[in-house]
This record gives sequence, structure tokens and C-alpha cells, in this order.
Amino acid sequence: MRELISIDDLSAQDLADVLDLATQFAEVQKRDMPKVPALRGRTVVLAFFEDSTRTRTSFDIAARRLSADVVNFSAGASSLKKGESLRDTIETITAMGVDAIVVRHASSGVPTAISGWTDAAVVNAGDGWHQHPTQALLDSFTIRDHFGSLEGKRIALVGDILHSRVARSNAAAFSKLGAEVVVVAPKTLLPSTLDGWPVTVETNLDAVIGDLDVAYFLRIQKERMGSGLLPSDREYRTRYGLTVERAARLADDALIMHPGPMNRGVEIDPEVADDPRAVVLGQVANGVPVRMAVLYSVLGPGRFDHEDELEAVAAS
Ligand code: NCD
Repeated sequence: MRELISIDDLSAQDLADVLDLATQFAEVQKRDMPKVPALRGRTVVLAFFEDSTRTRTSFDIAARRLSADVVNFSAGASSLKKGESLRDTIETITAMGVDAIVVRHASSGVPTAISGWTDAAVVNAGDGWHQHPTQALLDSFTIRDHFGSLEGKRIALVGDILHSRVARSNAAAFSKLGAEVVVVAPKTLLPSTLDGWPVTVETNLDAVIGDLDVAYFLRIQKERMGSGLLPSDREYRTRYGLTVERAARLADDALIMHPGPMNRGVEIDPEVADDPRAVVLGQVANGVPVRMAVLYSVLGPGRFDHEDELEAVAAS
């Protein structure tokens, strides 16, 4: 793997390989010294042109635990403010000899464009409504960790599908790994076509909630929304939120997931966010070993030669 832009670029085997590697790195996390020298001498730039708490922090921690040098580039404090173009900015960063650029941007397609301007490995940390592949990987890791496999699992992605890069990446990853994915949303929050989405569609959450293995709630993304798509937070909660009553109908061993940041009381009632079946913080924790696996896959010596990588990690 030279870069990671979209889940669509990965086969089911590639996904399984990254998850296996992440399992090894999760073991490293349990050591007293949760750090390996695997990427010593490599430089990773975190170029976040859009806000982030979880993704940025966990890429930062992941790179440091692999002993890479990390540079945080803040768009707000850069010469972009003086009108420098994105391309000049990336070429400037590249000229300093960086090995990987982890990029988040509000516009779809920016990581692909950047990949054409630099020899560094590009990792997409979320681009517009398009893709958020490391989120899909860490969510797949979380589900696999709980059930052993995604094969045959019934997973609902609930809510703001239209504006969600998480929905696009997760639907693709979950279905490649053998899950049955249903998207549940009001018509106004569904894309005009779901051609190419490996999913079925349901507008009534109550019709499916009883037989789900995973109920995955998406954030209502108001910053990306035109007006008139949502009647009100209250009505949304009534029809699509995980209320206490709905949670009671979910299977005892089902998982409740959310990528964060959560709007408590809209997508998930506050009491339910702390339900033992909710693994929202587990998702966050898994972000570190999964992003270590991604950085190692694009920068490590094996460049995704699975056996070599596992041996190298075990030996380090
Ligand atoms: C998501 C994002 O920014 O795409 N958050 C995240 O990375 N955990 C989801 C969101 O903002 O709704």
C-alpha cells in the first residue's frame, strides 16, 4: 500500500491485512513502553485544513508510537492565510523531505489532488463528504474485536447519510468484510442515488432495530447542511435517535457505535451513550493501533507485505 485515499482502493484481503497488523499494534499498546522503532527517521506531516479532535490526536499518537517525527501543520497559522495556493503549500512541505502527509480537508478530492503533487505517501484523514478510510478501518476493527468477524453481521448506518464521509467509507468496508449493511435515514438525508452503494435502504428505524448486530449512529452534520433538510432536533430524535425505548429493543450483545463528536440528546440519548453496549470510546482507543497499522503499511519496509510486517512488528 503506497497511500490510503479511499476504501474503494482496498480489496477485502487488504482490509483484513491492515486489521491483522492493527491487532499486533494493539498488543504493543499494552506494553509498559508502548512504542516501537519501526518508523524511526521518517517524518509525518499532519495537514489538517478542517477541525478535528480524535482523528488528529490519534494520528499524532500513532506516528509517535512508531518513533516517526511528527510535524503538525495548522492551516489557520500558515501562509495559506496570505493567499498561498494549496499546491504551493504541499510542494513546500514536500521540499523539506517528508515521508507522509496525513490530510483532512473540507473539499472532496483534495487528497487525490495532493497525491499528484508529492512523492510523499498521502493518507486521507477525511475529505468533504467523500471518504474517511481510517474511520472505517477502526470501526471494522472494533466490530471484529467484539464479534470475531463481520461476516453475516447486520449493520445499520443511521442518520445523516447524505453529508457523511463516514457512511460512504464504512458502507464499503463493512460490506467488503462480509456484513449486510442497511442505511436508515429520512429521504431528505439520503443521497439522490445510492447506485454503487452496497446497501439496502430503510426509512423506518423501528422496522430494523430489533435484529441488528450493530447500530451505528452518524452525527447530524449541520455545518454541511442547507436549510429545510431537518424538521427539528426533537423530531429527528423521535424518529431516528437511539432513545431509551429503542435501546431496550436492541439485542443484548449488539453494539452501539458513533464516530464522534456526539450530539447527545439528538442522535443518542445521554443515558444510552453510557450503555455498556456503547463502544464509542473503544472506537476512539482503537484509532491508535489502526492508524499505526496504516502509517506502517504506507511507510514501513514491507510496504504491505503482510508476513514480513507481522514479523518485523513482533521482533521490534
Ligand atoms: C467524523 C468526521 O469528521 O468525519 N468524525 C471523526 O473523524 N471521528 C464524523 C463527523 O464529523 O461527523
